[in-house]
Parts: sequence; C-alpha cells; structure tokens
Amino acid sequence: MNSIRIRRPDDWHLHLRDGAVMAAVIGDTSRHFARAIIMPNLVPPVVTTADAKAYRQRILDVLPAGDRFQPLMTLYLTEQTDPDDVEEGLKSGLITAVKLYPAGATTNSHGGVRDLDKAMPTLERMAKIGMPLCVHGEVTTPEVDIFDREAVFIDEKLDVIRRRLPDLRITMEHVTTKDGVDYILGADRNLAGSITTHHLIINRNALLVGGIRPHYYCLPVAKREHHRQALRKAATSGDARFFLGTDSAPHVDPLKECACGCAGIYTSINTMSCLAHVFEEEGALERLEAFASLNGPAWYGLAANEDTILLEKQEQPVAYPAKRDTEAGPVTVFDPMFPLHWTVV
Ligand code: DOR
Ligand code: ZN
Repeated sequence: MNSIRIRRPDDWHLHLRDGAVMAAVIGDTSRHFARAIIMPNLVPPVVTTADAKAYRQRILDVLPAGDRFQPLMTLYLTEQTDPDDVEEGLKSGLITAVKLYPAGATTNSHGGVRDLDKAMPTLERMAKIGMPLCVHGEVTTPEVDIFDREAVFIDEKLDVIRRRLPDLRITMEHVTTKDGVDYILGADRNLAGSITTHHLIINRNALLVGGIRPHYYCLPVAKREHHRQALRKAATSGDARFFLGTDSAPHVDPLKECACGCAGIYTSINTMSCLAHVFEEEGALERLEAFASLNGPAWYGLAANEDTILLEKQEQPVAYPAKRDTEAGPVTVFDPMFPLHWTVV
C-alpha cells in the first residue's frame, strides 16, 4: 500500500504554549489536525474558565489564515478549584476536560495537586456532570524510581480515584508502560489512554546510549523496550480505548541543552509521517484511522471529522526541518532516527 486516506486526525494532548513559541508552532498542528486538547500548564496555569476563554482567544488570534483548527480547552486542577466554575465551563461548551498534574510531576506542575482529598469536591462534581479528567499518571514521591512512577501511580492513586468515583471518566494520558496498557485493558468502563508518537518509537536507550540526548527527554520518561512493544500493540490494535495524544511539547533549545534540561519532545510537524511508518511496520496501516481519527472523538463524545487527509509513501525520504525557529529561539524537531517516507499530501 502506497497511499492511505483517513478522516482528518485530532490530537488529544498538545502543548501549544503562548506568545512567540505558540505563534511559531501552531501551524504545525493546524496543518493536519482538526482539533486538539490544549494543555493548561502555562505560567501562570489556566485554572479558571475565564483563563481558558482568554487563552482560547489568544490561540485563535495566531491561527494561520484558512486553517479551521478548533482548540479544545482544559483547566489545570488545583486544590482550590471551584466545582461551580468547572460546571460552568462544561455547560458553556468552553471546557472539554480538567487536567490533573500531581504537584512536581512535570513542567509547570508545582501548582498541581498535592493532596487528592482536597480536590475531591471538584472530582465528585465532575463525575456527576460528566466532565472528563485527564491525568498525568506519575507519583512524585522522591523514593520512587523515575522509571516506576507510572506503575506506582496506577496502584496508589489512579485505582483509588476510580474506586471512589466509578462514574468519573478518566483519560490516562501518555501511557508509557505495559502496566498502564494492561490496567486500561482490565478496566470495565470509564477509562481510556492516550499514547504519544515518540513513545511508539523510542525506548530509554535513545536517551542515554552513546551520550545523554536531551531532545529525547520527556515525561513520563521513555521506558524499556518491552514497554514500547506493549504501547505499539495497544495503539495498532484498533481497541477504542487507545488514541493519539502527541504530547508535543516545544521548549527552545537552550532550555533543553543545559545542565537541567526541560522535559518535552516536539513532534507536531512530523507526527503523521512517524505514525504511518509505525503502523506500516506493525502491518496495521488500516488501523491508523482508528487511533488518530476515530477513537479519540468517540471517547470525548464528539463526532469524527468529516473531511480527510491523504498520506502517501514516497520513494525519497521526506525532508523535515531539524528546527522550528521561533522568536524565542529554535525548537528542535523530533528525530525518529529512521528516514520518513510517508507524508501528508
Ligand atoms: O515531556 C513533557 N513535557 N511531559 C509533560 O508532562 C509536560 C510537557 C511540557 O509541558 O513540557
Ligand atoms: Zn503533556
């Protein structure tokens, strides 16, 4: 097969940032994707429906002319979040989900949740009104090894939330382990998982073998090979509980290439090429549409996009820029370490 037409994809987990970086990167998403769930971890974070409304307008203001991209807004859950504001956000149609960052888990998460009990009134209201919870599923306890943080989160936090609030719809975002995949497969309802492009391609060797490679550093950190294989199996299975959330997370190079580099991999620009490569490798090109275009909207209660994109496999590798230049500095583009032949035409 040398070409495949699929419904236009959506990205169910995206960092657009703000200001100069956002203005430079947004076109890389809006070129191919119809919608994206926009992460709220700005400085300061997007905490209230009013914050989200203002951020949404800033996104629309820098959207390239002619692109009909729809940002789906999220709220950053804090211990002070007002359940009435969350309900208002859902009813007004402005807010698609609420994001739980355990405090300290990742970029700009220090204002996140330390004590889940304090967020319980909001979580209870969300369960009642049908507002989905997007979860960064890692514990932050210093004693827990960074490679185990997802698995421990499932046992110690996620399972507890699900038992207390079985009606709460939860997206376990950027699943990186077989433990995560198996946990989702074992859930009878109200749990789904997004998977990034890069976690289908790299394992932890990419980060550490032959030198430390900051552009492969993200959170949750890439794991062992058997976890990557489990993610590939889940993503290419067609199972409706798994869908694309790129977690494309631009940081300018000086913030990554330093003694304490930021977590985040920028994949918006070549994600569809990478995914077509992965799905072809797995003999599952016919299931790319389910993963990138159908399962996500179904989970969030939205219609799949009506229009389509065409992916073609070209003889010559597709040339992507190594960097996306922004007025704040260059952002390195994800290098999958193999030539990409698939392209959106
Ligand atoms: O790698 C990551 N980058 N993981 C996250 O959870 C946050 C993100 C960011 O905002 O840079
Ligand atoms: Zn993220």
